[in-house]
Amino acid sequence: MAILKIARMGHPVLRRPAEPVADPGAPEIARLVADMIETMADAGGVGLAAPQVHVPLRVIVYHVPAARDTEGESRPLTVLVNPVLDPLGDDMDVAFEACLSLPGLAGAVPRHRRVGYRAVGLDGRPIEGEAAGFHARVLQHECDHLDGRLFPMRMADLSSFGFAEELRKSE
Ligand code: NI
Repeated sequence: MAILKIARMGHPVLRRPAEPVADPGAPEIARLVADMIETMADAGGVGLAAPQVHVPLRVIVYHVPAARDTEGESRPLTVLVNPVLDPLGDDMDVAFEACLSLPGLAGAVPRHRRVGYRAVGLDGRPIEGEAAGFHARVLQHECDHLDGRLFPMRMADLSSFGFAEELRKSE
């Protein structure tokens, strides 16, 4: 396993749509996921998408720590290959997000409160479910990476965008 370099906002790999994974069971995908998990843990993130480690494939890893969860939806480490999201209902939540590709920055981002998700696992088996609250937010943030979108592009009001350290001082 290896800790990979994380691409920062402005790098072209973060701006273009990622390719679907043809064979989720391929050894190179297992290796990529192991490295993504190690990289995410090293960086202290809750989620990571493959384009963030310069690999333009539709793979995300994430977890929902109990401390961040508001809806009884804490999740252990999860790997989704070729994920697809469907918003459920029109309810939106606004909350602060950060991203390992925008180190030190944060901003308030509107997201669907509930989403359905479909994907496959590393064993090629289908995975599907519904997510709410922070779990739904993480899924939307990570899946946006697969379409070349970063959280500032989802912000409705850029006045809340800034360095997390400064934003915390003015709370
Ligand atoms: Ni991110």
